[in-house]
Amino acid sequence: MKNIENMQAEITRPEKIKSSQFYADVITGLSAQPKYLNSKYFYDAVGDKLFQDLMNCEEYYPTNCELEIFSENTAGICSAIIGGGDAFDLIELGAGDATKSAYLLAYLLENNADFTYLPIDISDNVISCLNITLPVTLPGIKIKGLNGEYFEMLEKAAAVSNKRKVVMFLGSNIGNMQHDDAVDFCTNMRAHLSKGDMLLIGFDLKKNPKTILAAYNDKEGITPKFNLNLLERINRELGGNFDINKFEHYPTYDPENGACKSYLVSTCDQEVNIGPETITFVKDEYIFMEISQKFSIGQTDEMANSSGFKPIDHFFDSRKWFTDAIWIAE
Ligand code: AVJ
Repeated sequence: MKNIENMQAEITRPEKIKSSQFYADVITGLSAQPKYLNSKYFYDAVGDKLFQDLMNCEEYYPTNCELEIFSENTAGICSAIIGGGDAFDLIELGAGDATKSAYLLAYLLENNADFTYLPIDISDNVISCLNITLPVTLPGIKIKGLNGEYFEMLEKAAAVSNKRKVVMFLGSNIGNMQHDDAVDFCTNMRAHLSKGDMLLIGFDLKKNPKTILAAYNDKEGITPKFNLNLLERINRELGGNFDINKFEHYPTYDPENGACKSYLVSTCDQEVNIGPETITFVKDEYIFMEISQKFSIGQTDEMANSSGFKPIDHFFDSRKWFTDAIWIAE
């Protein structure tokens, strides 16, 4: 998490801003036609908090579905993960507060599974919290939190131990990538693993379009704030001057292809400055903000097969709205 002093230091040092990946990606996206931003940048301290609020709101079902899967199928998931019983590293990408994985961790500990938990998160705050809290709530756990980018940290994990790897990528985070990027991501994941290693991966499934759209268009209006926060983050960290009152959130879901997308639409002709750059918007021009792809089971299996994995198990919530699949590296 960034404190106020850090933010101000960044604002007053234009050279540092200009050399940042965040700045480069923002300028590339907003100079493109049509304009886009990468939803991975939603998650600063404010965005983390807004996502917490979203997970607690009535219409946002994915988190509750996955929690149900983990609480109702704990033994089944764990026995698939334990496999032949040899020691393993349990790696979680984007661990957050580890609420879901805590079900598995508790069960694995009770059953004396020989494993080390390696949560990976881009937020150092998340990792230092887990390193402190988990040994208290789950006595006896071997934990080594890794703070950094997913693939860099996977390489680090492989360098410190040659044990079998089980990687968790939950929450349908894979849905935030366009199809080809998702396949590239899984292929890259496979390249970082060895034959027999596993991936436990969450997918939000296709369902009634109204249910899906409502989850991204909540009555309380948290989703618009969550999107607009990225514009405010650009103001805070990159010296931008977005007026968020001049943008409107536009959520969509297309049941034909399963793509749930969100946009911010400019309500007028306007110019926005980001450091030395000026970005012009005409009225009704949009910024593509996020895709949250919804899948059929067949599509998830296909993704496994086309990226060097074999799907060996699928776990569902009672409504079959979400699945956690277990893939084995071939
Ligand atoms: C955390 C990426 C899975 O796409 O459903 C929630 C983020 N976006 N509401 C999702 C999100 C809008 C969420 N993921």
